[in-house]
Amino acid sequence: MHRPLKQTDHPGYTYVCECKQMVGKRWLSLLLLVFVLVGISTDLLREAPAASSNISKSSSARIPVNPQGGEQRDGSKSREYKGIPLKANLSVCHASFSDADRPVYCCPAWKDADQTLLDFEFPDPSSPVRIRRPAHLVDEEFVAKYERAVGIMKQIPPDHPHNFWRQANMHCLYCTGAYDQMNSSALFKIHRSWLFFPWHRAFIYFHERILGKIMGDDTFALPYWSWDTPEGMWFPDIYRKGALNETERDAIHLREAAVDDFDYVDHDLASDAQIADNLAFMYHQMISGAKKPELFMGCKLQSGVEGWCDGPGTIEAAPHNTLHSWVGNRYNPERENMGAFYSAARDEVFFAHHSNIDRMWTVWKKLHGDKPEFVDQEWLESEFTFYDENVRLRRVKVRDVLNIDKLRYRYEDIDMPWLAARPKPSVHPKIARDILRKRNGEGVLRMPGETDGSQLSEDGSWTLDKTITVRVDRPRINRTRQEKEEEEEILLVYGIDTKRSRFVKFDVFINAVDKTVLSPKSREFAGTFVNLHHVSRTKSHEDGGVGSKMKSHLKLGVSELLEDLEADEDDSIWVTLVPRGGTGVNTTVDGVRIDYMK
Ligand code: C2O
Repeated sequence: MHRPLKQTDHPGYTYVCECKQMVGKRWLSLLLLVFVLVGISTDLLREAPAASSNISKSSSARIPVNPQGGEQRDGSKSREYKGIPLKANLSVCHASFSDADRPVYCCPAWKDADQTLLDFEFPDPSSPVRIRRPAHLVDEEFVAKYERAVGIMKQIPPDHPHNFWRQANMHCLYCTGAYDQMNSSALFKIHRSWLFFPWHRAFIYFHERILGKIMGDDTFALPYWSWDTPEGMWFPDIYRKGALNETERDAIHLREAAVDDFDYVDHDLASDAQIADNLAFMYHQMISGAKKPELFMGCKLQSGVEGWCDGPGTIEAAPHNTLHSWVGNRYNPERENMGAFYSAARDEVFFAHHSNIDRMWTVWKKLHGDKPEFVDQEWLESEFTFYDENVRLRRVKVRDVLNIDKLRYRYEDIDMPWLAARPKPSVHPKIARDILRKRNGEGVLRMPGETDGSQLSEDGSWTLDKTITVRVDRPRINRTRQEKEEEEEILLVYGIDTKRSRFVKFDVFINAVDKTVLSPKSREFAGTFVNLHHVSRTKSHEDGGVGSKMKSHLKLGVSELLEDLEADEDDSIWVTLVPRGGTGVNTTVDGVRIDYMK
């Protein structure tokens, strides 16, 4: 039975919602709201995560690598698994959990499954191309219009799909796992995998068109927060105005236009130094660490519990995750709004942040010859649903959003100095390798003054409460250019268990001898693991909402890095894991090894 949602077109943009089923569900929402509020008040009493780390010691030893037999500990599937495209089961929307494990409820008051579901249609090819501009460059007239439209969106009745908070809840639905996957009890989630870029592209595409519709302007385009460029590395001022403003932000980070900190360590660097760090970081995340589609886009999530994966692409991990946390209010339990997925889109700056994320996808694709990212049907045919600007529910497949020309928008070009910000080693590679070789020769597997293997927990994994340094063997050395192009050398940190931690971040360095000078600006930086209060669950209501928690893994592309560190001939390298912000206390890692990725 279809109960269509309608937008009536009389003046003043009045919204009408004909969804009768909404009412019945209200008591459930209310009950859950109470539940959530109780959760929040107890959490508020807990201390906010420490802003900076104080690592005085580090230990080092060889972590047990690649155990034989049984299930594979690197998160890879032990047998060939052929997935079918992912799809949400819209007929059951259920309570879900925030990243810090608190119950949230973001379902619409009606069942989307009862709405008429239409296929996606590309905009008319003769319609104007919307040009997304950097947020710091848009003019006052634009901001006034944009601000007014968002204000109207906030006043649309709460049950209507165009209501501002209902749209924010679309994000909550797909990020907390309010829907199961079709024909499976596994949750449908769009973060930390190859669905990340396509889903968010579609989400902001509709948000933009709805805003355009409200203003009666079919050229309206979302601004982008160009945090990859020096001029854009401050919180964009236009989001402090009227309806674009939001109270739940980190006052300290926004004060005096502080520079974004991609690394999210709060080093309190001077602006120039922070900018240099950020540019080198961008180089790493966009170029040297992202040579293969899976490294950039994220792991290949397939349907069912079997097809589970947890490996965000470089940009998703950071600056995406880190800037979410950076903007969110540090005094809220999950750094709401921006710092938690369930609440992130309640802050309009979310859309500017994701415009830039989306722009990074277009840039990366161009750098890689505009080739298709993946040809897997499981990806191309995976689908999501959104309400369009005419309040019709649309089925959007990944293949629909791969070409932004067809979606009739583009990004205004700006300079990207990070393209040339290839980092330099912090210590001359010859000297560093000499020091490291000496350590090898003596069979001493730790830096001077470091502890022994006391971090080894009962199950043989390593606790990241301190810096860990390990020696890792390289199965192949001196590969040819062609071999490297075919297969990227991967540093795999496997079996990462974040336990009950909230925000977890650790950085990975190779052949580092002086960890006091380590930052993303040094070539030794191999990448970062960032977990935004995230608990990996595979099941939902079936097991009473408890779910089985899975370990994740981190894959870092290191071919270019090893060349720059002159380590290409070495049959082993030293890998250092540095927990950031005191976040690793509950985090364990099973091991580190070298792998190869086609
Ligand atoms: Cu879906 Cu930026 O998060």
